[in-house]
Parts: sequence; C-alpha cells; structure tokens
Amino acid sequence: MRNKLKEIAKDTNIFLQKFITKQKKTELIPAMKYGLFPGGKKIRSKILLDIGSIFKIKYQTLIAIGAAVECIHAYSLIHDDLPCMDNDALRRGKPSTHIKFGEATAVLAGNSLLTMAFEILSSSYLKISESSKLSLIKRLSECSGHLGIAGGQYLDLNFEKKKVSKNKIINMEVKKTGKLFSFCCSVAPIIKNRSAKEINFFDKIGSNVGLLFQIADDVIDYQGSSKVAGKKTGKDKKKGKATLISLLGYKNAIKYSENIKFKIISDLDKHNFKSNNLNETLNYILKRNK
Ligand code: IPE
Ligand code: IPE
Ligand code: MG
Ligand code: MG
Ligand code: MG
Repeated sequence: MRNKLKEIAKDTNIFLQKFITKQKKTELIPAMKYGLFPGGKKIRSKILLDIGSIFKIKYQTLIAIGAAVECIHAYSLIHDDLPCMDNDALRRGKPSTHIKFGEATAVLAGNSLLTMAFEILSSSYLKISESSKLSLIKRLSECSGHLGIAGGQYLDLNFEKKKVSKNKIINMEVKKTGKLFSFCCSVAPIIKNRSAKEINFFDKIGSNVGLLFQIADDVIDYQGSSKVAGKKTGKDKKKGKATLISLLGYKNAIKYSENIKFKIISDLDKHNFKSNNLNETLNYILKRNK
C-alpha cells in the first residue's frame, strides 16, 4: 500500500509540475508549490484510482483528475491552518504556508490552487469528452463550495465549544471532508455515462469513506504523535472541536468507524462492485498513524 501511494504521489506531482511549468510565471507560484509539494499521502487519488479501475478508466486520466483534487485539498489545508481558522503552524512536517509566506499570500495561493483544479479539468491534458468534463467541473465545484468543503469548514468552526448532536457532527464531517471523497468516487461512473442513480450510489459511498477518513484523522489528533503526523496533535480537545470522539468517546468512535467500513464494503458487494484495492485502502485509512 505504501509503495502504491508513493507511485501515485510521484505521478501526480509530475503532472502538476508540468502543468504549472506550462503556465506564465507569477509571484504566487512559490507559495502554491510550497502548499502542493511534496504533498501528503494522496489518499483521495488512491480512492479515485480504486473506483476508476472497477470501471476500467485509463490511469493517466485518473491521475490528471486526482491532480485537480489534490489542488483543492492543498488549498483547503492552507486555509484550514490560517489564524482565523485552526491557527496551526505546522503542516506536512514543515511550517504552514502562512507562516512561511504571510497570511495574505497564503490566502491568495489557496485561492489560486482552488481555481487551478478547474483549469486542469477544463484543459486539453484531460482526454475525456467535453460533456464529461462539464459534469466533473459541476460536481467538483459543488463539492468545494458552501454545499461542501467551505460549508463544512464553517460548521466545524461554528461548533467549537458547543454541545452538538451526533447527526450534526456527521453532517459537518461529511461536508468538510466527505464531499471531496464523494467526488472521487463518482468520477468513474460519470465518465462512463452511468445513470444518475448509480452516480449517487457512488457519491454516498464517498461520503462514508470521507467520514471514515475524518474519524481516523480525529483519532490521530487524539492520540497520535505530532512528529509522525507532520502536524500538531492534541489540538481538537483544546479548541473544543465537536468530533465523534468528543461526543461518543474514543472506543465508541472507533466502533462507529469499523461499522462504516463494513457498510461500505457490503453496499459495494450488494451491487457487485467488489474491489480488493478499495478494501486495502479502507484498512489503511483505519490503521494509519499519519
Ligand atoms: C488532512 O487530510 C485533512 C483532513 C481532511 C482530515 P490528509 O490526511 O489527507 O492530508 P495529507 O494530504 O496527507 O497531508
Ligand atoms: C480539515 O479538518 C478538513 C479540511 C477540509 C481542511 P482538520 O482541521 O481536522 O484537518 P487537520 O487535522 O488540520 O489536518
Ligand atoms: Mg479544521
Ligand atoms: Mg485543522
Ligand atoms: Mg484534524
């Protein structure tokens, strides 16, 4: 699994380097590259590839779309670390982008990475039909804005130091983290022109993968090492973040995440979409320590 992730990271970064090199040079590029490279685990791209291979989509197509997803993810982390949000000085084992370049540059580099995702999806590097591109752009924009990441981040901050119900926590986590995974899971059926029902089925699988992923992230904050994780841990409690761990306790949150994993696998099974690759990714997500 680790080697596969490394390979994906290498291919994604080659794509992104080339894409940026082809554009005109600007003063924001160093801060954008700082947030983007060498980058994180590339789990979202792995999920995209896992589902993509069920539908026999070309590897390079999936890498290009994954590169767009990684741009949005990198943007979300740059903004998540800002003093007005989580106020974190360490990201991916180095000083956060705003620490290195200042807040204004970090905000603008983040904005530029967000829009770069759509530059990639609409570019001629992506060899899929124009109508598929349009559908992907529509869906990714919905997953990123107030219905997705931005909306979820708002709720995450708004819920600090408040008693929040389980359903509200889940809704917040599905938005801030799950929506980008939903996009990754619906890419292949969209490209293959599958029915709206099937696309929504994969969208839902993605929400659950994202929820699982966020619970694992909350566990890392709860008990993980800052050195291994590459970001400061033990902060959620201090900030009074509403998480399933703070609500249900550590053991129940773990149980909950195990149940989600079984639900994802059995839902896929029921629809005859078996994927050992995806099972491997889900196990990695639950056991990861970074
Ligand atoms: C961290 O995401 C932020 C969350 C959505 C929980 P990752 O754990 O995927 O971050 P990187 O890309 O590996 O650094
Ligand atoms: C971040 O969640 C989710 C995003 C959409 C960026 P966290 O705030 O828990 O992520 P970390 O722990 O800082 O990586
Ligand atoms: Mg946050
Ligand atoms: Mg954070
Ligand atoms: Mg966290």
